[in-house]
Amino acid sequence: MLKIVIHPNSILRKKSEKIKDPLSLDIQKLIPEMIKTMIAKDGVGLAAPQIGKNIRMIIVRYKDNNLVIINPKIIKKSLLKEWDEEGCLSVPGIFGDVKRCKKITIKYLDELGKEKKLSAEGLLARIIQHEIDHLDGILFIDKAKNLKIINFNNEQ
Ligand code: CO
Repeated sequence: MLKIVIHPNSILRKKSEKIKDPLSLDIQKLIPEMIKTMIAKDGVGLAAPQIGKNIRMIIVRYKDNNLVIINPKIIKKSLLKEWDEEGCLSVPGIFGDVKRCKKITIKYLDELGKEKKLSAEGLLARIIQHEIDHLDGILFIDKAKNLKIINFNNEQ
């Protein structure tokens, strides 16, 4: 299992680079490891900087699927925004309310390097926005209000 980078760490604050070849061995090996790590940590999303790699790839759990999203770009977002509570594997024990677009459409490459488009709303849209923020060095605590500490002992 991969080790989660915990805030504060400069890796979490860097802008990550585009992946040139999604089919490269490095990336193809990393994908199942990231999925395994996300599931083991009971996360609903994981961005590559969180496992120490400043590359533009995120994994998002949606229903029973693990979406592999490479080089995502938000191409449409709703004017309508909503607040909801978020947490992050890299900021253990802290939760807070973040305002996000209710609906978004993204363009990305899947694990086979195929161009895809996805429209999402509600929780899925929120998770994707949170994970894309990671690729730009942004953490939810930068945007959150009503931050609260739930658990001091988040040793896993
Ligand atoms: Co996060």
